[in-house]
Amino acid sequence: MTFSPDLEARFARLLESYPPGRRRSALIPMLMYAQDEVGAVTGEVVEEVARRCGVTPLQVDEVVSYYSMLHRQPQGKYHVQVCTNISCLLRGGDKLYEQASRKLGIGHKETTADGRFSLEEVECIGACSWAPAIQVNYDFHHDMTPEKLDKLLASLEKIQ
Ligand code: FES
Repeated sequence: MTFSPDLEARFARLLESYPPGRRRSALIPMLMYAQDEVGAVTGEVVEEVARRCGVTPLQVDEVVSYYSMLHRQPQGKYHVQVCTNISCLLRGGDKLYEQASRKLGIGHKETTADGRFSLEEVECIGACSWAPAIQVNYDFHHDMTPEKLDKLLASLEKIQ
């Protein structure tokens, strides 16, 4: 599998930043960078990253299964992740998820027909102090309210 020269350079810098014998430490960032370029963590990506990190494809599969930010299928342009874990739940995270689902017309792990939005109900995203929290792609949105969520979705709809 071939990656872009930019991604190859990133991979090289990553692998150089860990001591010899610790290439596996680059696994998660490599998967995320590859996902950004390819659109998903495909079987080919798994094989290639496993080879470069000196681990088995099964070990990579286990990592992909565990982390909600890694996806085997392409997501929408805006991947909306709503946390409904305990801190967020206590502050209305479940209602925000329902609101997002209603507004977008899709459910958990679904993508809108135009490919613009995908939605996912996720476990804790590490922003409990600012619950309820939502993540869109790499951006976090804290202290979310129904009004803020409406504004956020409307602003994303406007972006071309
Ligand atoms: S419980 Fe939602 S960010 Fe931790």
